[in-house]
Amino acid sequence: MSRVLEVESLEGGYGSVQILYGIDMHVEEGEFVTIIGPNGCGKSTLIKTIFGIATHYGGNVSYRGENVSGWRTDQLVNHGIAYVPQVDNVFPSLSVEENLQMGGNSLANNILNERIERSLDMFPDLRSREHDLAASLSGGERQMLAISRALISDPSLLLLDEPTAALSPLYQEQIIGRIDSLRENGITILIVEQNARLSLSRSDRGYIMSNGKIVHSGDAQKILTDPEIGEYFLGSTEH
Ligand SMILES: Nc1ncnc2c1ncn2[C@@H]1O[C@H](COP(=O)(O)OP(=O)(O)OP(=O)(O)O)[C@@H](O)[C@H]1O
Ligand SMILES: [Mg+2]
Repeated sequence: MSRVLEVESLEGGYGSVQILYGIDMHVEEGEFVTIIGPNGCGKSTLIKTIFGIATHYGGNVSYRGENVSGWRTDQLVNHGIAYVPQVDNVFPSLSVEENLQMGGNSLANNILNERIERSLDMFPDLRSREHDLAASLSGGERQMLAISRALISDPSLLLLDEPTAALSPLYQEQIIGRIDSLRENGITILIVEQNARLSLSRSDRGYIMSNGKIVHSGDAQKILTDPEIGEYFLGSTEH
């Protein structure tokens, strides 16, 4: 196995407000890894610090063995990392097609068109909506568009922040299933999820955060069936 992402002793936050304290985690090639934890514990901040959006104070982020700590987002994208934000992840006043084009506006036209076709192959529900405004899409379709847009840069590591938030259970399952199937296209997945059980059920491993730290990590199935973790972090006691 080769290590796609390695985070060591990461300290991050916003300006002078430190949120992350000594985060250690990693993602192997082809893995599906879920980060869970209560509201406000720093999950989005972790993804944003990895992706060069939040402030990096210390520690290391390595991507495929290269130290990328403090790199700009565009540099990370060029190296194969893409990110789907938790909110505001599509342009509502643009069409589906225009949103996809925005995902690769520095690409040559023929490459951009190929990438758009490939993205639409992965999310075929969007094909019939290509000329509709993103504002007219359902919540689930919007998430599909946000993910499709991230795929235009041809990433090998996809960072996703709560892609199933506020969706119906049916769409939640569908989105997580689609994300899982991206692995068949060689994409490694790191995802933050409130729907912890659903996401962990597709995951190889999970990390649990609390107050800006990783408090537990391990095999996803073990996390799902650990009664103590279930009581505190999985939101309900059903299995
Ligand atoms: N831009 C910002 N500037 C300052 N503090 C911020 C900023 N964004 C988030 N925070 C704070 O950082 C802490 C961690 O927030 P973060 O968004 O990482 O949590 P989260 O685990 O993603 O929560 P949620 O599950 O609600 O999405 C919170 O206390 C939050 O108020
Ligand atoms: Mg968040």
